[in-house]
This record gives sequence, structure tokens and C-alpha cells, in this order.
Amino acid sequence: MKAVILAGGSGTRLFPLSRKKFPKQFLNLGDSESLFQKTVKRNLKALKDINDVIIITNNDYQFHVKNQLKDIFNNKLNLILEPVGRNTAPAIALAIKYAFEKLGVGENEILFVSPSDHLISPDDKFAEYIKEAEKLAKKGYIVTFGVNPTKPETGYGYIEAGDLAENAYKVKQFHEKPNLKTAQKYLMAGNYYWNSGMFAFSIETILEEFKKFVPEIYEKIENSSFEEVIKDFENMPDISIDYAVMEKTDKAVVLPLNIIWSDVGSWDSVYDVLDKDENQNVKIGNIIDIDTKNSLIMGEDRLIATIGVDSLMVIETSDAIVVAKKGQGQQIKNLVSLLKNNS
Ligand code: GDD
Ligand code: MG
Repeated sequence: MKAVILAGGSGTRLFPLSRKKFPKQFLNLGDSESLFQKTVKRNLKALKDINDVIIITNNDYQFHVKNQLKDIFNNKLNLILEPVGRNTAPAIALAIKYAFEKLGVGENEILFVSPSDHLISPDDKFAEYIKEAEKLAKKGYIVTFGVNPTKPETGYGYIEAGDLAENAYKVKQFHEKPNLKTAQKYLMAGNYYWNSGMFAFSIETILEEFKKFVPEIYEKIENSSFEEVIKDFENMPDISIDYAVMEKTDKAVVLPLNIIWSDVGSWDSVYDVLDKDENQNVKIGNIIDIDTKNSLIMGEDRLIATIGVDSLMVIETSDAIVVAKKGQGQQIKNLVSLLKNNS
């Protein structure tokens, strides 16, 4: 089995810390390791060694990757650099081409594909799920990992579970990012999981599905060398694996996860996952506070002082400070588009 780590997204939902030039996966969030570093280490628990890991990222992020992996970095590290971002379906296809040509794997090889910007724990239990998924993938299934939904989140895919198949459930239908009304319906129904964004499959199985549903990607993999695919990468369709394959395939199963999972997609979820002090504050950096409760306060350099505040989020960087009411973290994307329109 090889692990493909997707590290080329440019999410800005944790602005001002995450930026297009420094996306979320490379952030530390109050820890000594970034989400990306944790992902690599977590995957290594289930694999033999670093040479079984394939990292795929945008050319712009190569120095973040090399810098953050310098302890385990060696010349054999499998690092693929995309000249332009074309979303996850072309990224996975390119990783397959790399695995064929540079690692000499065959179609029977199992790939475990995961994002690099989530928090998951504990690692040991997670490794057991990967091994379970590997067994299912060997039987020709495309394995997804389901999380029990707790709110009608519209930023996730929803997996409608059907009958039991081995230790998992057959996927009746995969629904990528529904609108709020539909998400509410799924939440009430009881047989839907959030898609955690990780997948396991054999190369043979996923190529069959590429051939059926996104032949333009399949053709490139079949008829071009790795270098040629890279050269012509901008002409790949810009599409995620969720829309390209998962919504269409009838080979998917869902393995329900019973571990801590967060995609830390907003400052509110950062607050939720981090350790709090006796006043339910998360304080990172040089912070002093008087009578402050339920707040997230993060600073890079400057002293941040708060007095008498409740349920506030303050995030300071050298060139921007965001102050938001807790519960309003989803509005960061509106803020970022305002900034783009004004610049
Ligand atoms: N190499 C590479 N190239 N990686 C990419 C690219 C790309 O062009 N685009 C995104 N990624 C990486 C991101 O860095 C992230 O680690 C992962 O692929 C998923 O991309 P996101 O852009 O974060 O996807 P999403 O969060 O909107 O949706 C996916 O994840 C949800 C769970 O967090 C979907 O799979 C949803 O169904 C799922 O619920
Ligand atoms: Mg994401």
C-alpha cells in the first residue's frame, strides 16, 4: 500500500494565518507540528516507511513541504509538484502515473489517499482503520471513511449508507456539498455520514472509474508519460475526486470512523479542538487577560491583552488582525472575498 497525501489546496478559511501562499495544511495551530507534518507521521504508522508515502502539492508550496519534512526528508522522498492546481481528481491521477513510472507499482497496488489539513486522533486507532480499508480495497471496493454528522454542514460531502458489505456499508449515494436544506434532511435521516475526505482503492479499480466517468483524465494517464502529463497539466479538467468519481461510482463502501476527526475549517473549529484553560479560553502567544471567558486568542509576536470579554476570537499576525464573535467563523470567506474585491 502507498499513501498519497494531497497537500496542494490553497484554503484561506483560517485567514489571517492561512493565505494563498501559506495554506492551512502548513499551519501549527498552537502545536509544535503542522497539520501536514502530523498527517505524514500518522500515515507512517500504517505504512512501512517514508518511501511508501507520495506527497503531491503545488510547485508554489515545495519549500514548505521540504522545510517541514527536513527531519525525515531524503532524496528518495516521493514529492510531486503540480505546475498548476487542477483539484483532487487530476492530482490523484498524476500520483498514479508517478507510482507506475517511478515506483514501479502494478495495478494491484492499494492507494490510501488523504488530505493534509485535518486533525485526527488517536494515531494508533486510525492506523487500524487504514489496514481495514486496505483489505476492502483489495476486494475491489472504493473505501470512504464516514464521520457521524453533528450539524447540517454544507462544506462536506454526505455519504448515504445502505446495506452491510463486509465490515462496512455499501454507499447508496454520495452527495458532494449539498445546500443547507438538503443537509438538514440528511442530518435528520440517520443513515448519512460526513465524508472525511480520505479514500482507499486499488489502482485498477480507480482507473476503471476514471475511464467510465472522466475519460479525458484516463486518456492522459494511459497515453502520456509522467513528464508529459505534468507538461500538459493545465489542460486537465479542474474537478475534485468527489464530483468526478464518488458521486457516480457504484463501488463505494463507507467505513464509519469512531475517532476524533476535525477538518479545522474555521476558527470556531480550531477553538473546539484545542485545549482550554480554566476559563474556557484558548490562548496562544503572548497573551494577558482579565475576566476573559470562552475566547480564542492567538498572536504571533505582539502582546494581546483582553479585559472583560466573552466568546471572542482574536487572531493577530504581523500585517492583519481579525476580531470576530465566536460562532461567526464561517464569515471569514466573505471577508476574504471582500479583501480580494478591494485590492
Ligand atoms: N495536490 C493537490 N492539488 N492537492 C489539492 C488540490 C490540488 O489541486 N486541491 C485540493 N487539494 C488538497 C487540499 O490541500 C486538501 O488536503 C485536500 O486536497 C482536499 O481538498 P479541499 O479543497 O480541502 O476539499 P474540501 O474540504 O472542499 O472537500 C473535501 O473534503 C471534505 C472533508 O473535509 C471533500 O472530499 C468533501 O466531500 C469532504 O467532506
Ligand atoms: Mg478541506
